[in-house]
Amino acid sequence: MIVSASILSSDFSKLKEEVQAVDLAGADWVHLDIMDGHFVPNITYGASVVKSIRNHTKKIFDTHLMISNPSQYVDDFINAGSDIITIHYEADIHLHRTISYIQSKGVKAGVSLNPATPVSVLEEIINYVDLVLVMTVNPGFPAQSIVPSSYSKVAKVREMIKSTKKDIYLEVDGGVNDKTYKELISAGATALVSGNYIFQAENYKTAIDKLKTY
Ligand code: DX5
Ligand code: ZN
Repeated sequence: MIVSASILSSDFSKLKEEVQAVDLAGADWVHLDIMDGHFVPNITYGASVVKSIRNHTKKIFDTHLMISNPSQYVDDFINAGSDIITIHYEADIHLHRTISYIQSKGVKAGVSLNPATPVSVLEEIINYVDLVLVMTVNPGFPAQSIVPSSYSKVAKVREMIKSTKKDIYLEVDGGVNDKTYKELISAGATALVSGNYIFQAENYKTAIDKLKTY
């Protein structure tokens, strides 16, 4: 199981140390939540912050763009050192073009769906992506509870991925903790994003280990 630690819940005043701490604690990926105050009702940080931590860990940078017009900004996040860039289906009317562009730069590309967006919209794009990110909360804020229909949605995406016969990550994001992770894995998740649960824990390693114990 891949654990992607979302630094949105970390202490920004010591971001370098926080990133190094989750690296040391065994996180596989570092999840970077980019919010623009337009696509979602919150603003976080941009490519320059991503770049500033790039040299302090070798872990995979899993960049989640919760922004309008993502195609306009993908170069910035590629240049900042992202290994995976995920854009929202709802934010890009030329999804295939942007996904292909990201991959042409040697970066893995993912597509994300908000809770109210049906799985069926993946039909024509799933064969082209490296990752599907199912938002299990409405994006914008950390520490929310999972939207209950998310579990069956993850199972539907799992079936769709199976039919492609490709190795596509199925990532879940929002409300992932010691009480929810097992059901998400049972439904088919292969990568767990977790922010609040890890960063609120007294010991990051214990929290990450727990998410890897199934
Ligand atoms: C939510 C973000 C998430 C968030 C997850 O909009 O995309 O990545 O940080 O946070 P937790 O794990 O706290 O629900
Ligand atoms: Zn995220």
